Amino acid sequence: MDSIIVRGNGPLHGQIPIAGAKNACLALMPATLLSEEPLTLTNAPRLSDIRTMTELLASLGAEVTGLQDGKVLATSCHGEITPVADYDIVRKMRASNLVLGPLLARLGHAVVSLPGGCAIGARPMDIHIDALSALGAEIELKDGYLHAQALGGLRGALHEMRFASVGATENFLMAAVLAKGTSVLKNAAREPEIVDLARCLRAMGAEIEGEGSSTITIQGVDRLHGATHPVVTDRIELGTYMLAPAICGGEVECLGGKIELVESFCEKLDAAGVSVEETATGLKVKRKNGRIRAVDVVTEPFPGFPTDLQAQMMALLATAEGTSVLEEKIFENRFMHAPELMRMGARIEVQGGQATVHGVEKLKGARVMATDLRASVSLILAGLAAEGETVVSRVYHLDRGYERVEEKLGAVGAKIERVKGE
Ligand code: UD1
Repeated sequence: MDSIIVRGNGPLHGQIPIAGAKNACLALMPATLLSEEPLTLTNAPRLSDIRTMTELLASLGAEVTGLQDGKVLATSCHGEITPVADYDIVRKMRASNLVLGPLLARLGHAVVSLPGGCAIGARPMDIHIDALSALGAEIELKDGYLHAQALGGLRGALHEMRFASVGATENFLMAAVLAKGTSVLKNAAREPEIVDLARCLRAMGAEIEGEGSSTITIQGVDRLHGATHPVVTDRIELGTYMLAPAICGGEVECLGGKIELVESFCEKLDAAGVSVEETATGLKVKRKNGRIRAVDVVTEPFPGFPTDLQAQMMALLATAEGTSVLEEKIFENRFMHAPELMRMGARIEVQGGQATVHGVEKLKGARVMATDLRASVSLILAGLAAEGETVVSRVYHLDRGYERVEEKLGAVGAKIERVKGE
């Protein structure tokens, strides 16, 4: 397994290009199952999670070519689609469950293994099941697989989710676009990735209104056609690289960044003493002056502070002046990076869904282990500001969500290298 070695090396200067959003792309790719015509996604990121989704779609019978010149070309086959998403692929990535809605809409039945994914909590599927059942699907669990069918097709319905689940909103949208009649989803998730999916579905001929708000209305249509759609900027990669100059000093422009994607995050950066300026090409970030100040953070569904930036924010607050409290409201077990940061000298107490971070002057390099995708990048960020050398092992998690991380950080002056493992 590869490791990443980081050496604390002072301020960073330059530009970092931000890729298309992994989480948007993982929802857009299954939309190809809704049409016989090609769907072309431009600005797709080169990541192992995208390769896993490619493998899954190919196993269902879609032809997927791509990741050439930063493009994914996904074509649903004219011929037969196999409605079975096998455990061997699904266990690699929870987002595999996003084929459930489109398979049901296109074929009227689907068999999808229960997912695996990051070990950051129980992550059940009940909200997905309730949402698709409201559209007339009958779903039962047998031998670790969800068996779903809608005899006579899906019917539009009004449904309110008990929690604004991102994945369940995406599955509902992709099922409702081909259902008979009107569907209304209340307490829908409002993330930019949902807005991106709705835009793409509209380009394919779907009738959708209200995406980005908590009520989405979908008028079912008989068929969808092909489209070309650019994937929205990755707000989590954006936030992660915005933290690099905040932690190390210097000034970095994140190309393609927009405030509207990271507004609640920018408010916390401002309170911590980091300035963010919107330019014609992206977001310019630098420390205002002096040491970072402690701030309290609560993770919430969009537009609240994203759970996917909590680990990276903790790396920043580890060296802040004062004590910060980070409260995790989305996933119950998402502080696995805390003990690793403590190996580097951070002072953190975790109690249930709350972490109290007492800022220290300086972190020290250490051997640490990446436990999930966002945790791994938080350790790299911490290593950039630490004294001496930090070795982050198990970086396969990192490759699921960050493309060319060594190159992007190296280009702004970070001392970072990958060591190939067996
Ligand atoms: C998506 C993102 C992930 C991000 C998360 C929250 C993708 C591919 N992944 O994951 O990076 O961290 O949103 O912003 O887009 N839940 C249930 N029952 C369900 C579904 C979810 O209890 O049926 C719970 C989960 O266990 C979790 C919370 O709801 O505690 C949020 O999950 P959800 O919004 O569904 O996240 P994902 O779509 O899995």
